[in-house]
Order: sequence, then structure tokens, then C-alpha cells
Amino acid sequence: MPDQLKLALVGCGAIARYHLDGIKEHAPRIDVTTLIDLDIDKAQAYAEETGGTAFASLDEALEKGDFDAVDIMLPHDLHEASATQCFAAGKHVLLEKPMSFKLSSCERILAAAKAAGTTFMVAENSQYWPEIVKAAEVIESGAIGDIITARAAFTYEFDPYWFKEDQPWRYDKSRTGGGIVIDGGSHWIRPLRIWMGEIDKVVGVIGHPLKQMEGESLTRALLQFKSGKTAVLDAMMIDTVFAPDPWWRITGTKGELTIGTGFEGALHLFDADHRDGQLLMEPRGYSQSFGPELADFAAVVLDGKTPEAGPEQSLGELRTALAIYRSAETGNWENVWD
Ligand SMILES: NC(=O)c1ccc[n+]([C@@H]2O[C@H](COP(=O)([O-])OP(=O)(O)OC[C@H]3O[C@@H](n4cnc5c(N)ncnc54)[C@H](O)[C@@H]3O)[C@@H](O)[C@H]2O)c1
Repeated sequence: MPDQLKLALVGCGAIARYHLDGIKEHAPRIDVTTLIDLDIDKAQAYAEETGGTAFASLDEALEKGDFDAVDIMLPHDLHEASATQCFAAGKHVLLEKPMSFKLSSCERILAAAKAAGTTFMVAENSQYWPEIVKAAEVIESGAIGDIITARAAFTYEFDPYWFKEDQPWRYDKSRTGGGIVIDGGSHWIRPLRIWMGEIDKVVGVIGHPLKQMEGESLTRALLQFKSGKTAVLDAMMIDTVFAPDPWWRITGTKGELTIGTGFEGALHLFDADHRDGQLLMEPRGYSQSFGPELADFAAVVLDGKTPEAGPEQSLGELRTALAIYRSAETGNWENVWD
């Protein structure tokens, strides 16, 4: 078994910067040998940074490149074709969320992974977000008693970093499958599932305050868990300025946990002994989730480690998003799993 994983980055856009920084900081066993982007200048820039080889297409890289695994970071409508092509070539696959935007497409990807027998993971980085992992430990310790409810608030001032191109695919619903919930919303839904278990049904509304984006940029939803408990999911990406507000608030019988305001993070406990809050974790934040994610992928491939979350786990976020979309149409509670 080799000790290094030769990796191709497929798509050298916005999120690739975070993956590459995470690899450099936390995943020394990954050797980025291959960089692929339709825009060869982007692939070339990362090739210069890593010492890898740039290609303008996955076809050409599969034919000529030297790698055992791929990290696919392409627009959602390209996930199925690229992942199944890589599985057919016998590669290990880390695929950015959502696995795809339709359940039938996810089933085909899962079948291709099974047929290949290689490693398949969906890159849901909130699984590795330091404050979220620490919050799970604190909840497990009983520090806030039994969870009563929680609120996840993806309140996010519109940031052109994620919409750089002239015609960003994220504005086009036929390429994304929806708006903010199916996209970044997954990083707010996964933590709720880690802390509170599986979601049973949802009711929600959606809106479109960010005019240039076809998918929703505003969601207010209630999530009911199989336990009967409920949580609120707020997601809004608006070209405005928001007041500070924790991105997560978990309310228990003995106190509350809050996580950060914005990408920087920090975990606080509020209870009878700490009415003004006790800092449990210095700010680490979103950017610190990618290194552990890539390191986990390398360990799964190289050591046969069990992943922190299997690819099927990501269907929970996708199904929740799709159920919120149905609820916004019907006005009813919608089941997530059937
Ligand atoms: N985990 C997170 O926090 C997070 C954040 C942002 C995006 N994402 C996910 O990452 C993926 C990519 O998003 P992004 O924001 O980096 O998008 P992006 O548009 O910035 O980057 C996509 C790149 O793919 C390239 N590309 C497009 N078609 C291609 C093709 N056929 N072959 C090769 N390259 C091609 C584009 O030139 C572009 O450089 C999506 O699945 C998105 O949901 C995850």
C-alpha cells in the first residue's frame, strides 16, 4: 500500500483554493499531481503552485495524467458525468456536495462507485468543522442537558467571490438544482443532523431577494426530527449588511451553545455558571474544515479507515433541500425520506 495519494483536482475554481490550502496544512500524504480546468489558466496557476501537471479536460487527464484519486469540484450538473467517468477509470473519488441535484442521478453515482470498488466520499466539510465537532462532544458530555431545539442561520451577505464568472452557473437553476439550500445550506443542515439525529419532515417557504439568482436566496424552514424535536433553518444570501447573529444556537435543558458569527467561528457555552458565556473553543471556523476532510479521504484510501461519514449520509441534506422545495410549492409538511 503506497503511503502517498496522488490526487487530481478536477475544477480549479473558488472552492479548490480551500481544498488546496487544507491539503497543504493538514494532509501531507496527499500529493497534488494533476490540475484540471476548462480554463487552462486556472489549472496552470495551481500547477505552478503544486508542481503538478495542468490539463484542460478530464478526458485528457485520464488518458495522460498520473493520479489515483480525484477531488471533483465542478458545477452540480457535471457531478454525475465526471464521477461516473472517474469510477469507470478505477479512481478513488471525493466529490463536492451535493452528490448530484437529483436522487436518481445520485443512485447512478452510487452504483458506479459500487461497481468500481474504489473509495467514494462526498465532501461535506461541516462534518469536520472544528466548532461543530467540538459542539457534538460538549452535547455528548451533557453540559447543556437534553437538547430542546436548535437554530441554524446561514445568514450570508452576498459575496462575489463565489460568483466570479461573467455567467456564473450558480445563477442558473438548471445547473444547480435550486438555490441556497441545496448549495451552501447543506453545511448548516449536516450539523443539525449530527447533533439531533435524522430529519423526518419539513415545512418552509422560499424567496428570491437576490434578483440575479434563479434559485432561492431566502428560506425559512422548520425541521422536525424523528425524535419529534424541531429546529429552525434560516438561509439567506442577500446583498445587504446583517447584524451579528450566531450561525448556530443549540438550546438544552441546562443551557445553550452558540457557534460564531460568520466564517470565523468560536464556540460558547451559556449556562447558570456562565451567564455571559464561556469560550469553549477559540475561533477556528469554516476554512479549518477542509484540511481534516482531505486528510480523512487520504486515510480512507491509504489505510482503509472508515470515513467520518459515508456518501449516503449526504443524501440527507439533499433530501431535506428537495423536501423544503416541495413544501414551498404545496404549503404542507413534506416527508424527507419517502
Ligand atoms: N464545501 C463548500 O463549502 C463549498 C463552497 C463552494 C462550492 N462548493 C461546491 O464545489 C463545487 C464547485 O463550486 P465552486 O464554487 O468552486 O465553482 P467555481 O465556478 O468557482 O469553479 C468550478 C470550476 O470548474 C471549471 N469547469 C467547469 N466545467 C468544467 C469541465 N467540464 N471540465 C473541467 N473544468 C470545468 C470552471 O472553469 C471553474 O474553474 C460545487 O459542487 C459547489 O457546490 C462547496
